Amino acid sequence: MNNKLIELAKRRGLFWPSFEIYGGMSGFIDFGPIGIKIIDKIEKLWRSHFEKRHDFIFEISTPIVMPEIILKASGHVEHFTDVVLTCSKCGRKYRVDHIIEVEGVEGWSMEEIERYLKEKGMKCPECNGEFEKPYKFNLLMKTNIGPYAGDIGYLRPEAAQGIFINFRRLYELNGKKLPFGVFQIGKVQRNEISPRKGLYRMREFTIIDLEFFYDKENPSCPYIKEIENEKLRILRAENKNNVLELSIRELIRNEIVLTEWLAYFMYLSKEFIRSVGIDYNKQYFLEKAPEERAHYSSQTFDHMVITSDNTPIEVAGFAFRTDYDLRNHSEKSGNQLVAEKVEGGKVIEKFYPYVVEPSFGIERIFLVAIDAAFKEIKNRTILALPKVISPFDAAIATIAAKDELMKVAKEIYKSLKEKSLDVILDTSEYIGKVYARADEIGIPYVITVDYQSLEDKKVTIRDRDTWKQIRVNISELDIIKALIKNEIEFEKAGEIFKN
Ligand code: GLY
Repeated sequence: MNNKLIELAKRRGLFWPSFEIYGGMSGFIDFGPIGIKIIDKIEKLWRSHFEKRHDFIFEISTPIVMPEIILKASGHVEHFTDVVLTCSKCGRKYRVDHIIEVEGVEGWSMEEIERYLKEKGMKCPECNGEFEKPYKFNLLMKTNIGPYAGDIGYLRPEAAQGIFINFRRLYELNGKKLPFGVFQIGKVQRNEISPRKGLYRMREFTIIDLEFFYDKENPSCPYIKEIENEKLRILRAENKNNVLELSIRELIRNEIVLTEWLAYFMYLSKEFIRSVGIDYNKQYFLEKAPEERAHYSSQTFDHMVITSDNTPIEVAGFAFRTDYDLRNHSEKSGNQLVAEKVEGGKVIEKFYPYVVEPSFGIERIFLVAIDAAFKEIKNRTILALPKVISPFDAAIATIAAKDELMKVAKEIYKSLKEKSLDVILDTSEYIGKVYARADEIGIPYVITVDYQSLEDKKVTIRDRDTWKQIRVNISELDIIKALIKNEIEFEKAGEIFKN
């Protein structure tokens, strides 16, 4: 990631490494006031694409700590592992795919890995020491629940399990109807072996897991017709050199995406990621080979974004989880997590619904959004975020720190807040600094009160991206709403102002 952006992020309160005063710990990041505002807007935008458009998708919230039995049933205690290579000389530990950069290495046996290292003479990249025998490391973060050492708990590695174990209750709350989706947004933990990419691979991060339950005998998605000509960029598992551009219709007809619902959510994801500022041609869906997939998935596509330094970053995953989780939790808990087929008022069949899962990493979406937005123009820095995810709609400033100007600025602030605009009062400094701060944190408009405002009851609005200014009546400032929604061109929203 661009060093200048990292420096800006620290200086302007977007994010910084956690535990700094004690030397830090890789894999953890703190978010500051501006970072949190942007993340909050990204979550709202996600909701507008996935939750608000559908009356069959709803949210729940379940604990972060889970008793061991749940993650044993889900397969995470056994399968949620990565292979570690330890240097016998310096003791450094590496995830195997950071050393052996060969596709599919995740699926190799310990013997195959050892043989490969020997054949290729691979050594520790830091000190050239020999590697010890590879071993599997479980990525679950372990804890104890209460005072009994036997009550092992884990911090959840995904939010999905809290949804699966509640299936029966959720199904009843939905009037025993399929299909429906349930999501939760929250922190998850993964004890990554060697997190080394800042915001990219964190040990604690925010996930949105959406579990979508449907009847496999009735798998059609009614929205497919509307979007069947829309294209997605796809990288097939068997040919990872060539991005294919295929319509939703082709993806389904050729069984490249195995379920209509998964294709529908992939399309929504493309639109969502586009709305955080990522061009279509910087996005693609990477099909995972069987050995690269999570243990619960029969088909997975990772939604990838190519950053400004050409790094592909996975921002979301689309897994076809079939009935894997509901079946396992039913068998292990003794509770039937099933749906029912009813005829003539009688239950004639009980069955496990199928599940597709769109899953999003919020911090990574934040990362690709600020990366795409970062611009340097004529020695000035601008975070040209889409207005919908800017931390504020507008800042309100004064041309000088004078009481009579401040009074007007405060009145404007109050009145725009009452009109549900997300504004900030920034009157403490020289106006040039206010503009620079607004540009650097991505505020699209600065409203400035000047001496003339006291006479003509007008203020200037400055546009972040062009630095053009217009002059607008104070009583008509809710034009900002139309500007934010791109319903009106900036230069038509007031009189052009030249100073
Ligand atoms: N639930 C999605 C994941 O674990 O990645």
